[in-house]
Amino acid sequence: MKIAVLPGDGIGPEIINEAVKVLDALGESFELETAQVGGAGYAAHGHPLPEGTLKLAKAADAVLFGAVGDYQYDSLERALRPEQAILGLRKELGLFANLRPAILYPELAGASTLKPEVVSGLDILIIRELTGDIYFGKPRGVRECPDGPFAGQREGFDTMRYAEGEIRRIAHVAFQAARKRDSRVTSVDKANVLETFQFWRDIVTDVHKEYPDVELEHMYVDNAAMQLVRAPKKFDVLVTGNMFGDILSDAAAMLTGSIGMLPSASLDANSKGLYEPSHGSAPDIAGKGVANPLATILSAAMMLRFTFGKTEQADRIENAVKRVLAQGLRTPDIHEPGSTKVGTKEMGDAVVAALA
Ligand code: IPM
Ligand code: MN
Repeated sequence: MKIAVLPGDGIGPEIINEAVKVLDALGESFELETAQVGGAGYAAHGHPLPEGTLKLAKAADAVLFGAVGDYQYDSLERALRPEQAILGLRKELGLFANLRPAILYPELAGASTLKPEVVSGLDILIIRELTGDIYFGKPRGVRECPDGPFAGQREGFDTMRYAEGEIRRIAHVAFQAARKRDSRVTSVDKANVLETFQFWRDIVTDVHKEYPDVELEHMYVDNAAMQLVRAPKKFDVLVTGNMFGDILSDAAAMLTGSIGMLPSASLDANSKGLYEPSHGSAPDIAGKGVANPLATILSAAMMLRFTFGKTEQADRIENAVKRVLAQGLRTPDIHEPGSTKVGTKEMGDAVVAALA
């Protein structure tokens, strides 16, 4: 059970510390090795995804990832920016299936910006394709505009594309995940405008023939964004491309009160995975000891479940998190009148204590 631990930048190291503390407390024989990534990778080795870090990640069974990005690296050329580390890891490790569950813990119903009756009991799973789409499509760049009223000026351009096999495999992931839940899939696209997503819709419809027991509905992404804030509980599994999934998963995160609560798993075709909180590096609060470590701790639980098949230990962590929330412990992002404000370390310690 080899785990590559990549803390990254901003609050990354603080939240990863707490997740490692929880893993250590389980009494399993994990082999943890830490390496630098993101801005920290650039500062130490001149590249956001240093060779040694990539090698370690490839050799490990799972990667536990913090977050990358910091203001000081914003002016670097694109290839050297911290974000390239996570994009490179996803591509190099073939992590095409990103699972982002949005679950509202009953204790946090009041922390959501939406009315409690709209979100209470929320349990949806967003499945985002992670290695294709406009994120990786080529060609891309800045060139001379070839035609139209702006011909001759500079223009920026990217390429949206999805191969049939890419759509098929993520559709299979979605239908299979749905079978373990409420057997409903909503495929989100923009088939009314984009060729890529008309093709997406056609292929998902075809894969669906193998899953007659699962209900499939297609929805345009603009409507999906609206439904997510109007009646989010109507969804069960939502599957979509890389770009739409990026945007919709942030929106879904806020339904649950705080993005600081949301874990994620990025999986390849086997059981290798990268596990990271859905949130970013939050440089504005880095080093202050106030970041919420629960998304990262819950990501470690997903790692135990998906990569190592340790269901009981995963349940133990998830139950411990529920217990500390029930005790009223809250980091500032989820703090409400009447709850007990704690910092990153206290929250991690409380989870460890609640494991017993
Ligand atoms: C995410 C992040 C990344 C993405 C960034 C950091 C490249 O926003 O994991 O959602 O856009 O995929
Ligand atoms: Mn994002």
